[in-house]
Amino acid sequence: MSAKDLSAFLANAQTASGPAPVALQGLIAQVAEVCASIATLVAGGALSGALGSRGTENVQGEVQKELDVISNDLLLNGLHGSPNLSGMASEEMDDIHPTAEQGPYLLLFDPLDGSSNIDVNVSIGTIFSVLPAKGGAPKTEHFLQPGSAQVAAGYVVYGPQTTLVLTLGAGVFVFTLDPASKAWLQVAENVRIAADTKEFAINMSNMRHWAQPVRAYIDDCLAGKEGPRGKDFNMRWVASMVADVHRIVSRGGVFMYPWDKREPGKPGKLRLMYEGNPMSFVVEQAGGRSIAGDAGRMLDVQPTQLHQRVAVILGSANEVTAIEGYA
Ligand code: AHG
Ligand code: MN
Ligand code: MN
Ligand code: MN
Repeated sequence: MSAKDLSAFLANAQTASGPAPVALQGLIAQVAEVCASIATLVAGGALSGALGSRGTENVQGEVQKELDVISNDLLLNGLHGSPNLSGMASEEMDDIHPTAEQGPYLLLFDPLDGSSNIDVNVSIGTIFSVLPAKGGAPKTEHFLQPGSAQVAAGYVVYGPQTTLVLTLGAGVFVFTLDPASKAWLQVAENVRIAADTKEFAINMSNMRHWAQPVRAYIDDCLAGKEGPRGKDFNMRWVASMVADVHRIVSRGGVFMYPWDKREPGKPGKLRLMYEGNPMSFVVEQAGGRSIAGDAGRMLDVQPTQLHQRVAVILGSANEVTAIEGYA
């Protein structure tokens, strides 16, 4: 098929406030280039030395997989000299990483999402978020901007196809990495998430730990046609947020990683800056909704810590609204 490539798209791309600045175009192209190299490693699996555990722990207390660390290093090394950036932050790094130049943006990422699926050949991904820099040497506080301040966000799914889903604040665009030419070719524009759905995604094994409203919502879904929702629901749970969100972007649905009582002091498992915010920006730009559990719109949450956790409920707009009704 003849399709526009990413650089042609970026050259004419719009943001929420007009044409995309050249520095933003350059940054997205650089991120996409690094992700293409991660895709090659992922596709090689054991042959690339990309499987298995590194044995170290990240700041979240998770054991790091080889690919968590390799992907993080590829992003750091690939972007350290970027004139478009002044700093980076990652799920896999304790502290922020000031870059060589003092460019206009900050980049935040989950270098490898879905770590538990690496070794079993199930879809995984990279999630990224772009914030405006605050000028001067970057400080941690500069990164603590609400999701509504993002100027771009997106994710790459390393699955049967390698797919980049991108928003610059004016709709959602999808690109597939052409295995032959290694170019990112546009395959969809202005993607919209169906407002209604009959499909939910949640880790059901945590049911006994959920708060009562989550339990009540899922009970009603499971009751099917005869229950209060009056329809039969299907369930999916890949355990890679990128894959679950991509399914929702593609055919609707809701994704939930709610607060649960296993870790009472934490609002949820997922990370606001590397997962919650970028995915919520994409979902909203595609007409969906995203809320931080009972803490309101995700993109309005004021972060207080770089590695802050958050409850996540996102997807088809009317279904997210229905879930809110259970609070
Ligand atoms: P990560 O691999 O970046 O640490 O993220 C894993 C996340 C997310 O991708 C997924 O939705 C969730 O963890 C799965 O959690 P469970 O294993 O608890 O289902
Ligand atoms: Mn992790
Ligand atoms: Mn993740
Ligand atoms: Mn990760």
